[in-house]
Amino acid sequence: MGMPKQRKSREEVLGLLREAKKDDLPIGDGRSFGYIYSAGEAVDEVKKAAMVAALGANGLDPTVWPSLRQMENEIIAMAREHLHGDESVVGSFTSGGTESLLLAVKTARDHARATKPPLPAGTRPTMLLPETAHASFQKAAAYFDVEPVMVRVDPETFVTDVDDMRAKIDERTILLVGSSPGYAHGVMDPIEAIGALAVDRELLFHVDGCIGAFLLPHLERLGAEVPPFDFRVPGVTSMSMDLHKYAYAPKGSSVLLYRSAALRHHQYFACAAWSGYSMVNATFQSTKSAAPLAGAWAVMHFLGDEGYLELAEGIHRSTRELIDGLRDIEGLRVLGDPIMGLVAVTAAEGVQLPIFRLADAMSARGWYVQPQLGYGSSPRNLHFQIEPSNTTKVGEMLEALREETAKLLGQPDAAPAPLLQMVATLTPEDARTKFGELMAMAGSGGPGDLPNARALVNEVMDALPAETRQELLKAFMGQIYTPPTGA
Ligand SMILES: Cc1ncc(COP(=O)(O)O)c(C=O)c1O
Repeated sequence: MGMPKQRKSREEVLGLLREAKKDDLPIGDGRSFGYIYSAGEAVDEVKKAAMVAALGANGLDPTVWPSLRQMENEIIAMAREHLHGDESVVGSFTSGGTESLLLAVKTARDHARATKPPLPAGTRPTMLLPETAHASFQKAAAYFDVEPVMVRVDPETFVTDVDDMRAKIDERTILLVGSSPGYAHGVMDPIEAIGALAVDRELLFHVDGCIGAFLLPHLERLGAEVPPFDFRVPGVTSMSMDLHKYAYAPKGSSVLLYRSAALRHHQYFACAAWSGYSMVNATFQSTKSAAPLAGAWAVMHFLGDEGYLELAEGIHRSTRELIDGLRDIEGLRVLGDPIMGLVAVTAAEGVQLPIFRLADAMSARGWYVQPQLGYGSSPRNLHFQIEPSNTTKVGEMLEALREETAKLLGQPDAAPAPLLQMVATLTPEDARTKFGELMAMAGSGGPGDLPNARALVNEVMDALPAETRQELLKAFMGQIYTPPTGA
């Protein structure tokens, strides 16, 4: 396939786009308990108009687009007030949770380089990472050559073990990490205890509030018990908070806040040692779209505190309905004590239940729930997440889940034992070289064709060590991104 030879009309192009989107996960129908954050049509309309208005601007240079500077400074001021930061707290607008976390780690590394004695040759700085911390911290470790030292979590509550963290601090440690809450189980880390440790050992401490930090203050005002997790806690030196989650901003919107401008300085990159324009970038991108920034700013003004509180009320109510309903289904067990509408369930103790087949059964009935593989002390599970469009659908979804769970109780897994025995011997190298074969066994008809039996794929993945899983995932990514051939 090459560049289209002739022009197409606007109608033709938009028709092609509609056709391309026909199998996409529907947005806003409330049947997906993951991925989506939709606050309704009126919010979407404002967001779209603001994004269109900002389309031509280039975030590369905020000196020639003062509006971009104004919007970003105002968003950071709003975020800092939301998280109880004083006037010394500053930050940046980033493209998402992952960029915020990558930058927080890069900043910690460069801060350590500037302020600590050099490490012995051949050693790397470390960050202390609870097993439940988001995968993007490990991406940051890989990108910036920081060693992740995994910290134990309690196998029942999934709360970070602060004694284990304390024991792992040494002269190489540059950063402590906690989540408010973690994605996988929706469980809060002991932010105050980790903060005290950070103060005592004079270390940087990042609180990952990507998913929870915007919503939790609203839930607290509605009566939820929320332990202090933000800049009120001494020792917290940086925080991430995604706006494209519970602030309903367009995808590509997050903020990263620092306790001081001196710390943020290590995030910036400037280059005047070349023959072009003087380059200074706050974040990873250089030329960048201003559309997410304008969309986020517009939605925050449009909804305001009262709008967000109203949306949070629905989530608050539905969270109880979801957690109580899940606890009430025979054969299921809720993992840990989730603080908001992020809940993981697994098979109850001593019960035979093919949990990934349950995800497929729900999907066949038009409900999306997210399978999560077992890792460390966390068993394989299904993950549910509530956002405004789900709030009217929780009861219906729970009913479907109850019926499908009852049908599957006592049933075997999808993957036959010989297949699991075979994959148990796979090396990471095999995962790369035998990927096509494995996909064919799972029912894929070739590149780009996803196997229908997702349960089988998840069970196989679940049986493998993380390193082999990772190689398979990369091989899979390489396969689905195969450019089309032919006309
Ligand atoms: C706690 C937490 N941190 C980080 C991220 C990564 O955010 P993003 O997908 O916007 O990069 C997520 C995403 O769900 C999250 O829940």
